[in-house]
Amino acid sequence: MKTYLVTGGAGFIGSNFVYYLLKKYQDIQVVNVDKLTYAGNLENLKGLENDSRHIFVQADICDDQAIAKLFQQYEIDYVVNFAAESHVDRSILNPEIFVETNVQGTVNLLKHAKAAWTIGDDVYKAGVKFLQVSTDEVYGSLGEEGYFMETTPLCPHSPYSASKASADLFVQAFADTYRFPVNITRCSNNYGPYQFPEKLIPLIFNNTVHHKESPVYGDGLNVRDWLYVEDHCKGIDAVINKGRLGEVYNIGGHNERTNIFIVKTIIAYVKEHIDAAVGEHMITYVTDRKGHDRRYGIDPTKITDELGWYPETKFEDGIKKTLKWYSEHQEWIDHITSGKYQEYYKLMYEGR
Ligand SMILES: NC(=O)c1ccc[n+]([C@@H]2O[C@H](COP(=O)([O-])OP(=O)(O)OC[C@H]3O[C@@H](n4cnc5c(N)ncnc54)[C@H](O)[C@@H]3O)[C@@H](O)[C@H]2O)c1
Repeated sequence: MKTYLVTGGAGFIGSNFVYYLLKKYQDIQVVNVDKLTYAGNLENLKGLENDSRHIFVQADICDDQAIAKLFQQYEIDYVVNFAAESHVDRSILNPEIFVETNVQGTVNLLKHAKAAWTIGDDVYKAGVKFLQVSTDEVYGSLGEEGYFMETTPLCPHSPYSASKASADLFVQAFADTYRFPVNITRCSNNYGPYQFPEKLIPLIFNNTVHHKESPVYGDGLNVRDWLYVEDHCKGIDAVINKGRLGEVYNIGGHNERTNIFIVKTIIAYVKEHIDAAVGEHMITYVTDRKGHDRRYGIDPTKITDELGWYPETKFEDGIKKTLKWYSEHQEWIDHITSGKYQEYYKLMYEGR
């Protein structure tokens, strides 16, 4: 039986990944470590409350003792590090917490995984792996043409992407210095269920259904490359199982869209399915984000050719599925934005 240490598994992608793993594999155990910041919610894991293969531990990845204890308590085979401060706007306001969690937290996990897995000088228990979940934002910004490849030099612009790039360099340094078994995945923008409603898609959805303005940065023509979250989970799973040690794998589905296209798509969906009174008059262009990267675009050739991964969900289907999910989970949006159910779920999990 394999044991996964998933960090940040109460957040958006982490919770989707935990569901994905437990559905795909019967004979596994998932130790899910999350600090439960504003972005982490036990409500996201509600569907697992009776699954004894899922063990939730509230802890900070920067906490030396707490992480040491986890490696003593469980025979961990894989670390999958999602835990991060993930919102660019917050990083512009408060960069320090991004250095703490994204850089120091990653180094703390690397240190404890290395201590637990070492069986000789730079020799490790068979089959173990540390997978760092990174982002295409570490590559910086593209012009109108070209794509990010794994060989593209790191050129982060925001404090968020700088902290993720720093973490990647530490992960790579552990591989180079100690021959530590790692992989890094760099994925494009994800969308799907359980995304905290400060990020573009759930934010615009929530604003629109509440007849609030939809703020769009600058001219709205910044381009992001969108991937359905389940396809990201499949990519990570493929890299854990088949990725060559020490390698970086980009994950993306060639789904480039301008921000304004995304906003108009959401408003059109709400107008058609929920409330005919909403419309594009609700869009407000606001002063551009500082240092706003213009375009991201991933070249996923390596993961496709080497590991056979490809995106299964077309954007047109994924976005409808996602917006339907949010429209059926308005209560979830209300709960997690107000935080009022946090305590209830903590008690429920602790009492098990
Ligand atoms: N969202 C995207 O589009 C995207 C794209 C590519 C890569 N990524 C990366 O994927 C990972 C997950 O992103 P997300 O969008 O799910 O983020 P998220 O903000 O929704 O979730 C982050 C989770 O980490 C937890 N966390 C934060 N600080 C912690 C700490 N110190 N110790 C333990 N847990 C902590 C939070 O409580 C939360 O549950 C991040 O590493 C991010 O950089 C995200």
